[in-house]
Amino acid sequence: MLLDAIGLLRVCPERHFGDQAFFLLIASMLSVFRISPPVDGQDHEILLEPKRKTGLIAHPEPFTCVIEPRSEKATGRIRQKPN
Ligand code: HEM
Repeated sequence: MLLDAIGLLRVCPERHFGDQAFFLLIASMLSVFRISPPVDGQDHEILLEPKRKTGLIAHPEPFTCVIEPRSEKATGRIRQKPN
C-alpha cells in the first residue's frame, strides 16, 4: 500500500499477541463461568437490549447479568491458586 511504502501507515507489531491473549482470557472465563441474562421475580430471563456509548471506543452501556460457576468442578478451578 502507498501509505505504508512512504511510512505514513503503521500497524501495531504486537496485535496478534494482543488478540490471542484476549481470546485466551475470554475462553478461560467461559470455560468456568456461565454468563446469562438477568431474571425477573418469576425467574424469567429479561431480554437485554444491547446499547453502546458513542466515542472513539465503543463501550457498552452498563447492564446487569448473572455470572455463576458452570459446575462444582469449575468452582474448584476458580478457587485454585495459580502456580
Ligand atoms: C489487541 C491489542 C492491541 C491493540 C488494539 C493495539 C493497537 C495499537 C495501535 C493502534 C498502534 C498505533 C499504530 C500507529 O502508529 O499507527 C500500536 C502501536 C504499537 N503497539 Fe500495539 N496494540 C495492541 C497490543 C500490543 C501489545 C500486546 C504490544 C506489546 C507487547 C504492543 C506494542 C506496540 C508497539 C511497540 C507499537 C508502536 C509501533 C510503531 O511505532 O511502529 N501492542 N498498537
